[in-house]
Amino acid sequence: MSFTADRLLLFGATGDLTQRMLLPSLCALHDDKLIAPELTIIGTARSEYDDDTYQAFARVALEKYLPDFRKHAIDSFLPRLKYQVLDATQADHFTELADEIGEAKKGMAIFLSTAPSLFEPTIAGLTKAGLTGDKVRIGLEKPLGTSLETSREINDAVAAAFSEDRIFRIDHYLGKETVQNLLALRFANIMFEPLWNAAHIDHVQITIAETVGLESRVGYYDGAGALRDMVQNHMLQLLALVAMEPPTSYDATPIQDEKVKVLRALRVVAPAETVTGQYRKGAIDAQPVPGYDEELGKPSDTETFVAIKAHVDNWRWAGVPFYLRTGKRLPERKTEIVVNFRCIPHSIFAARGAKTQPNALVIGIQPEENIQLQLMAKEPGLDRDGIRLRPVPLNITMPDAFAGPKKRIAYERLLLDLIEGDQTLFVRRDEVEAQWGWIDQIRASWAEHDVKPKAYSAGNWGPSAAIALAERDGVTWHD
Ligand code: BG6
Repeated sequence: MSFTADRLLLFGATGDLTQRMLLPSLCALHDDKLIAPELTIIGTARSEYDDDTYQAFARVALEKYLPDFRKHAIDSFLPRLKYQVLDATQADHFTELADEIGEAKKGMAIFLSTAPSLFEPTIAGLTKAGLTGDKVRIGLEKPLGTSLETSREINDAVAAAFSEDRIFRIDHYLGKETVQNLLALRFANIMFEPLWNAAHIDHVQITIAETVGLESRVGYYDGAGALRDMVQNHMLQLLALVAMEPPTSYDATPIQDEKVKVLRALRVVAPAETVTGQYRKGAIDAQPVPGYDEELGKPSDTETFVAIKAHVDNWRWAGVPFYLRTGKRLPERKTEIVVNFRCIPHSIFAARGAKTQPNALVIGIQPEENIQLQLMAKEPGLDRDGIRLRPVPLNITMPDAFAGPKKRIAYERLLLDLIEGDQTLFVRRDEVEAQWGWIDQIRASWAEHDVKPKAYSAGNWGPSAAIALAERDGVTWHD
């Protein structure tokens, strides 16, 4: 149903995500006049605020997290904010919420980020209060369950109140400009697609490395771990975008159709093809940092690092491994996709002593946004001692190529799409369930083989077994 919402209802309005991402994003959209003047934002949470005190709370968050060039917009943004105390387990609170929201002339968008246990009571409360009609759509923030079974329960509960075209499952990686640029790279250029297959690609590496540790998320993270926190969603979405067939158009259904085919083609992973780790004390940027168990205050079997050798069992990718790794307290913050091409079939330079290396396409997602194509070139000279070839990078640095446009955070894009109703950059139910199915199988094999995370010192690229996972295939991680 196409409508632009004139009400935005934010659950978890006092939470970390709202303070760091949602309020700054909404203020930026307001500043750029991308949201209509009549859009009212209603925050709800359990804390006892009223409209005025919530606006004061929001001001503090915006002063802290908004970039300086946006701060002039705070005063004019704050009057959009209203607040209603809400305990999702109290049905009557939803009636009061409906009164506070008042009549949405055009429609309402809901942003729901809540503990999995509160999804069902929240949907039930919204339904009872008449807040789930045709002119209401809902954005769902992770964690959408902890397994296929629990994710189905959440999906069923939401589906009882909202049709799929009004459900917007968020994976904030899809809101990142560089992730969207992957589609442009693959499908707005003629030169990659003919090579984008097992005949020409040897293997693919995807790394999502973070330097942060547990931060203040003990309650959530220790139950989740790197596999469920990062691989189930962000990593698999990146993999799907790299591996999918060309969609017929840049629209939600064709793109989601192609992604889900990839996710369903993921091969069951053998335990020997995964490595898990947990960081111990070490140093990041020469600063000492504590180990995970010290931050947590108790020993734990939760993995803070995972590496996986994955396979997409279809015609295009037969025999091409996808090496995936993600972890906390790694040496640098870096999200990167490296497509490693095969060797040339015959070197005309070999008899002249020159060695060739395979081409590689390095797609930097963050923090560096650049695309680099490693090509072989001849070293200048008269070649009396033979020919020397060397890989040289062909670089496209995004901030240089597009110096004008403002750098936006992922949630600006996703909130605007939610308000306006564009599902292209959201995740459909069948995708989420295919993702969970694959993750559950890995967790089941870990449980069966009693796999425990191996220790790695903070500031290293995970346990040494992760290096061995690639090296036994003759592959070196691109660090
Ligand atoms: C979140 C995870 O989904 O993504 C966090 O829960 C992680 O653990 C974060 O730190 C990383 O996001 P980004 O945008 O900083 O790469």
